[in-house]
Amino acid sequence: MIYFDNAATSYPKPPAVAEAVAAALGGFGNASRGAHAWALAASRTVEGARASLADLFGCSLPERVVFTKNVTEALNLAIAALRGHIVSSEAEHNAILRPLHRRGKYSLAPVDELGRYTAADIARLITPDTEAVVVSHASNLTGNIAPLQDIAALCRERGLRLIVDAAQTAGLLDIDTAALGTDALCFTGHKSLYGPQGTGGICLGKDFNPGPLIVGGTGSRSFSLDQPEDLPDRLEAGTLNSHGIAGLAAGVEYVRSRGPGALRAAANRLADRFRGGVSAVPDLTLYGDYGAAVRVPIVSLNIGGVDSTEIAGRLAEDYDIAVRAGAHCAPLLHRRFGTVEQGAVRFSFSHCNTEEEIDFAVAAVRTLASERKSGGK
Ligand code: ALA
Repeated sequence: MIYFDNAATSYPKPPAVAEAVAAALGGFGNASRGAHAWALAASRTVEGARASLADLFGCSLPERVVFTKNVTEALNLAIAALRGHIVSSEAEHNAILRPLHRRGKYSLAPVDELGRYTAADIARLITPDTEAVVVSHASNLTGNIAPLQDIAALCRERGLRLIVDAAQTAGLLDIDTAALGTDALCFTGHKSLYGPQGTGGICLGKDFNPGPLIVGGTGSRSFSLDQPEDLPDRLEAGTLNSHGIAGLAAGVEYVRSRGPGALRAAANRLADRFRGGVSAVPDLTLYGDYGAAVRVPIVSLNIGGVDSTEIAGRLAEDYDIAVRAGAHCAPLLHRRFGTVEQGAVRFSFSHCNTEEEIDFAVAAVRTLASERKSGGK
């Protein structure tokens, strides 16, 4: 299979990731729950992963990196701690939009025809009751990067909390949470950090202290019926996914050894080659800002009015090419693009793809487009 669905979950993972998971399955006890060798092995790996992630994200206090099962849980945790009005944007994924909708009291900056918005668009929506700005670092549909530096400066100037969904950027962009002053950087482990699914977390700013979504055992302060106050235990009730975290630690080491910038540059070269190849296809629509200096390696498109799932189906069946079609959990962007019914065919690349794969996919898209014009299948 030719895999272009890295924005959904990355493939292939570095071999060290599977090796680390297998080793953990073969010799881990329960982290923070014992003093025998296997429990200690699990604890050491979990704490090593925490320190490594803290380092990656410029966080000087590893205990402020808390593991969750995915980025959605991390975002829910951060958003649940907010009481005031929130400003976000129409570019967001449902991992932000649904928690906002459930609580209410939020406003969304509109996006333009390329799916962009500016910090000034956010600023216009700030009211005296605004407590926070919650945005994705990059769109999973367009590959556009949010103006995070400007938004962070705005938040610092106006005394607002900043919560960032880094699902599509952790491992691809350098993220310095201390310099940005983020209150919560929410990340997933299984995309560009190359870990297993079921891993993710939140990197908390030094004065943002959300309460737990769930309470329970932590292996600490067992005679108190209250959840421990100290981090990370306060937010990590129940047995951790230390087998997955072992894999995530290996993925993070892989990213750190190569550098997010180099991985992104390699993937973006392939994305650019693909976009260049398909851009002359008649009736092809691309979504996103391709004039931007920095993007993540995502190219979403449609061919005429053909349903995106039909194109993705043909790519899978006839060419063994894996892409994602449909609505991508970004309903307001689809509304803006007029693709509520059609969805979009999303190609998302990694540095592991090859030029041959790209050229094969370009030819496949050209063929599908020309078949449509000539009334073929
Ligand atoms: N949010 C992930 C995606 O964009 C699952 O595909």
